[in-house]
Amino acid sequence: MIILSRRRILQVSPFLGAVIAGSAQTAQLLPTPACDDGDADPTAPNDEGPYFKPRSPERASLLDSATGGTKLVVSGMVVSAGCKPIANTVLDFWQADDAGQYDNTGFKLRGHQRTDANGAFRLETIVPGFYPGRTRHIHVKAMSPGGVVLTTQLYFPCESRNARDGLFRPDLVMNLAEGSGQQTGHFDFVLKTA
Ligand SMILES: [Fe+2]
Repeated sequence: MIILSRRRILQVSPFLGAVIAGSAQTAQLLPTPACDDGDADPTAPNDEGPYFKPRSPERASLLDSATGGTKLVVSGMVVSAGCKPIANTVLDFWQADDAGQYDNTGFKLRGHQRTDANGAFRLETIVPGFYPGRTRHIHVKAMSPGGVVLTTQLYFPCESRNARDGLFRPDLVMNLAEGSGQQTGHFDFVLKTA
């Protein structure tokens, strides 16, 4: 349960305990953006990369019967720098499959959704594979109703390749927990303005 107030978002993340439980896994994990004093640092932009395709289908689940790999559910919120939830923000996700391949002819593992009235989102996908030169990551564009666009990437904790990837940023690492047969990630986006 996320509570947006004058408290740090991190303090109420249901995934934090699982992350802290693995002490070695916390070394590269920084807090998600904080809302102390109602003033959060905006989520950092990160390279778009060469594989973005416009006009992805609107869907919260990128899974279909042919999707292989480990299931991953990512949830979180989109808030303003003043920590107000931003409803109806478009979140457009794209990523590699479990073999590290992007679908550049169709829209496999591509899709966009809109945050709900509470600014929340929930993405069903898989853990992306590696490809040369990059650590594990998911691309995303966030577009608020007010026209603010953030292009960034979400990263995974505990990846040895993180340290060797020049695009990697520790403040873009999801809080991640492993469940039975799937992983669960959490990330809250902070946009500069609504
Ligand atoms: Fe990529």
